[in-house]
Amino acid sequence: MRAEAGNRRDRLREMLADLKMPGALEAVDGILAQADSGAATAAEAIEQLLDAQIGLRNNRRLQAAMRSSRLPAVKTLAQFDFAFQPSIKREQIESLHELGFVDRRENVILLGPPGVGKTHLAISLAITAAQAGRRVYYGTLAGLIGSLMEAKAAGELSRRLRVLTHPALLVVDEIGYLPGTQDGAVFFFQLINARHERASTVLTSNKGFEEWGSVLGDEVMAAALIDRLLHHCHIVNIRGNSYRMREHRDLMRSASDQRRQGESHDW
Ligand SMILES: Nc1ncnc2c1ncn2[C@@H]1O[C@H](COP(=O)(O)OP(=O)(O)OP(=O)(O)O)[C@@H](O)[C@H]1O
Ligand SMILES: [Mg+2]
Repeated sequence: MRAEAGNRRDRLREMLADLKMPGALEAVDGILAQADSGAATAAEAIEQLLDAQIGLRNNRRLQAAMRSSRLPAVKTLAQFDFAFQPSIKREQIESLHELGFVDRRENVILLGPPGVGKTHLAISLAITAAQAGRRVYYGTLAGLIGSLMEAKAAGELSRRLRVLTHPALLVVDEIGYLPGTQDGAVFFFQLINARHERASTVLTSNKGFEEWGSVLGDEVMAAALIDRLLHHCHIVNIRGNSYRMREHRDLMRSASDQRRQGESHDW
């Protein structure tokens, strides 16, 4: 009996190696031990085995996406503290992370003052999409316009626009911080026009739509752009305090606590 069980384990390992499932292969012994001892049911054991493989695959996809997508950091939904930002509807954010909007080629616009988590949530949407095997790309508006301008100068504008239309999810971060030029507005419009109804764009801005005209340096272009963006769009309006300020406050507090402790020692 024991020899048979041992053979079966070897066979299982061979099969997992043959199927190129290194995550499952690494976890299989521990999972079988749990199942044998009665700590896991058969269904739980299979679930754990597949989970181990999916976890490894998603991690690899994320590593690859971090290299190619220019995402500036890893920010996840699990790291987001909803209690700190009560104006955000948790269900809306969780449901966006199910990625139906990517399949439907809809847009997401995150609006709000500095430090409220716009970039964090835009990145966590992109990371979730990358883990699900979708192609993603990140840029600030200034960075994307700069790259389109360079492409135009090199006579490669339409090629660059095609490349930027390719990702299933493009993040356009920081609309509103750098003053735009009329040329920039035209490039931004061309980008959004190229992606409209073809692929999803997630945008962040510290300015309301009524200010986009002056931000982009062209009222007419801004109106046409907003019209396309809002056509199929989820808007996340964040009103609240900056998380950065909270981190500063926490640091200040722990520094002053330490100082006080130091003082009491001296005493
Ligand atoms: N609710 C939150 N829970 C956990 N971390 C948060 C939360 N909100 C923001 N942060 C963190 O605070 C920092 C600032 O957030 P983020 O960069 O997303 O702000 P932002 O809205 O994009 O600001 P800005 O308009 O200045 O670009 C980041 O490190 C982010 O991960
Ligand atoms: Mg930001």
